[in-house]
Amino acid sequence: MQSNVPVYKNYINGQWVPAGSNRLVENRNPADITDLIGRFADSDERDVKDAVDAAAEAYKSWRLVPGPQRGEILYRLGEILRDRKEEYARAMTREMGKVLKEARGDVQEAIDMAFLMGGEGRRLHGQTTPSELPNKFAMSVRAPIGVCGFITPWNFPMAIPAWKSTAALVCGNTVVIKPATDTPHSVVNFAKALEDAGLPKGVFNVVTGRGSKVGMPLIKDPRVKVISFTGSTSVGRTISEACAPTFKHVHLEMGGKNPIIVLDDANLELAVDGAIWGAFGTSGQRCTASSRLLVHKKVYRKFVTMLAERASALTVGNGLDEKMEMGPAVNESQLDTVLDYISIGKAEGAKVVAGGRRLTGKAHEKGWFVAPTVFADAHRNMRIAREEIFGAVTTVIPIGSLEEGIDVANDSDYGLSSAIFTQDVNKAFTAMRDLEAGIFYVNLPTIGAETHLPFGGIKQTGNGHREAGLAALDVFSEWKSIYVDYSGKIQKAQIDVPAGAVPSKKKA
Ligand code: UN1
Repeated sequence: MQSNVPVYKNYINGQWVPAGSNRLVENRNPADITDLIGRFADSDERDVKDAVDAAAEAYKSWRLVPGPQRGEILYRLGEILRDRKEEYARAMTREMGKVLKEARGDVQEAIDMAFLMGGEGRRLHGQTTPSELPNKFAMSVRAPIGVCGFITPWNFPMAIPAWKSTAALVCGNTVVIKPATDTPHSVVNFAKALEDAGLPKGVFNVVTGRGSKVGMPLIKDPRVKVISFTGSTSVGRTISEACAPTFKHVHLEMGGKNPIIVLDDANLELAVDGAIWGAFGTSGQRCTASSRLLVHKKVYRKFVTMLAERASALTVGNGLDEKMEMGPAVNESQLDTVLDYISIGKAEGAKVVAGGRRLTGKAHEKGWFVAPTVFADAHRNMRIAREEIFGAVTTVIPIGSLEEGIDVANDSDYGLSSAIFTQDVNKAFTAMRDLEAGIFYVNLPTIGAETHLPFGGIKQTGNGHREAGLAALDVFSEWKSIYVDYSGKIQKAQIDVPAGAVPSKKKA
């Protein structure tokens, strides 16, 4: 038994408070399940109600705080996160398993968002434009929407909450967030940083617990005006349906089955390097993971051999050990899903050329480790080539041409990220135009988006919105178009059409 296991509370109305139920859920390290990280509030609809009460009350004043001041708090958030980067990265590795280097990147992404949206506080640009009538002024401004409800995933436990929160807050909204059950600690840390940055009470609230008990009440509360969710397509559909009757705004960021096309002129070392990083970074637990490798027949064998060698040589273990290149699956059920897909791929006739099994033995017996797995000789119709696995499994499919590569790549329900390795600029531009995805890379894998560009996808990956970048502001604000008439008359648009400067032609 571990002694002194910390207890973490919800953050509601600027106070750290226990769940109404007084119950707690354990959070354990997926690299070593004997390591109990903490006990977190096991909340229910009572806590959600308290949090929404606080957020609705705080909205009345937060919406009136000048944008530059809201931005300054976010700027301070960025500085605090930068100071605590190492501490928060270590906590993240311990709660979800990604290797330390990547956890530092995750906190860095939150820092980048804080500075990006901090600066946005002094912009939040609208348009001013001439009116069609004299002595009349026309402009549009961004108006906040109200209380935003966030349901965030475990794979980017701080970056994704930061994408959503910083954009929502700078626009003048307030927030209630339900972090993934596996990663409450990173969101608690994020809330601490916001608290220390001077965010007024009630503006940002955290309610930890399960989806059914916390997520659903949050979605259903009529005072919550926007739901932003990142996770699976099936949960996204349920959320979308639950929000439809009241036309609640919904922003969804869901699955991917992201292809890399490798052409015969590619720098093969680079392509293999990219595929390893894209497929096995975060143990393949990224929406953007490179899970389909579409490789030209002329270089196919060589590519598969090189890839299998590199995948088999990856060091897998506890991410707190700096030597490790890949950590565990986040939990037992995720490990089971990955192992199921490995069986499915074998049964479908794809060939395991690396991994294909759970890792056992001394270094791995306490965690949810799977060997980095490469299936070769796969076909586009196999389930392993169509369904999102969300684990350390990638699939190689031979192609005969760029056109075939694009065709296979687009033959997917998803459209998040895509990539090509080639030295031929014409082919790169053709793929850039024709690949159906929200993100496209040349000579890079499908992961590695930067925060100041829009992030999101098409088809069943999303519902037409983007997060991060300035595009995120569109999710968290509504346009208000404003007309000011100083003519002293009621001028009727489209009716009192002033005589044009250019006289219209007289009829003959
Ligand atoms: C995800 O894939 O779930 O683009 C988010 C990336 C990261 C964010 C990924 N910046 O790889």
